[in-house]
Amino acid sequence: MFDFSQIANEYDSFYETPLGRDVDEVEKRMVREMIQSLPRKLSLEIGCGTGHWTEFFTSLGFPIVGIDISEKMIEIARSKHIPEAIFLVKDVEEMDFRDESFDNIFAITALEFVDNLDRAISQIYRVLRPGGYMLVGALNASSPYIQGKMEKSSSSIAYSRPFTPETLRNLLQVFGQPQIKVGVVIEGSRVLDKEQTLDQDTILRKGAFLVGLVQKTL
Ligand SMILES: C[S@@+](CC[C@H](N)C(=O)[O-])C[C@H]1O[C@@H](n2cnc3c(N)ncnc32)[C@H](O)[C@@H]1O
Repeated sequence: MFDFSQIANEYDSFYETPLGRDVDEVEKRMVREMIQSLPRKLSLEIGCGTGHWTEFFTSLGFPIVGIDISEKMIEIARSKHIPEAIFLVKDVEEMDFRDESFDNIFAITALEFVDNLDRAISQIYRVLRPGGYMLVGALNASSPYIQGKMEKSSSSIAYSRPFTPETLRNLLQVFGQPQIKVGVVIEGSRVLDKEQTLDQDTILRKGAFLVGLVQKTL
């Protein structure tokens, strides 16, 4: 398992680069569209890291409990003093929350880094209430950009197990009927679908980011 404590101090600097800003904008556009109608109720964020996405979720009105296995990442998240968010050092595979305690569960580029995905999913299923929503943002293994990153040992992505649209769909089918979106076409240091003019076929073939949403069957 990759230890994010090693890179915690530099983690947010990606979002300050021109590429990082554009990736963030398109990823957030995709996620915002998926979660706009979800209830603004108690939400668990898995692998919240430095709280970068926590700020986004709370700004949309979701109260967040953020968990991460890395103490250092949680220390940085806490230092941001994000209103309506609390942060806990916790392994998703061994959560001690009560059954059905969350209305929504969010995980952004987190599940591809866990040790045992089956254990993580059975814990997530247990703590999500029936009728609640699970949203996963994930690296797309089918994208040439992610494939290139997986060959570079200097990238944390090399230590991940990215999904494809099909594997993400299969994973979420345990909960109900998933919706899957693909986006973030990166070439060089540009995000080609930032302006929303790129054709759907190119986005489906090259998008580096997947978003899956599913409602847990009642
Ligand atoms: C790529 S980072 C993503 C952080 C944040 N979601 C973001 O997108 O900025 C993956 C995060 O998942 C966390 N993680 C990995 N395995 C975990 C586990 N078993 N339980 C909780 N968090 C975990 C890592 O420590 C790391 O902070």
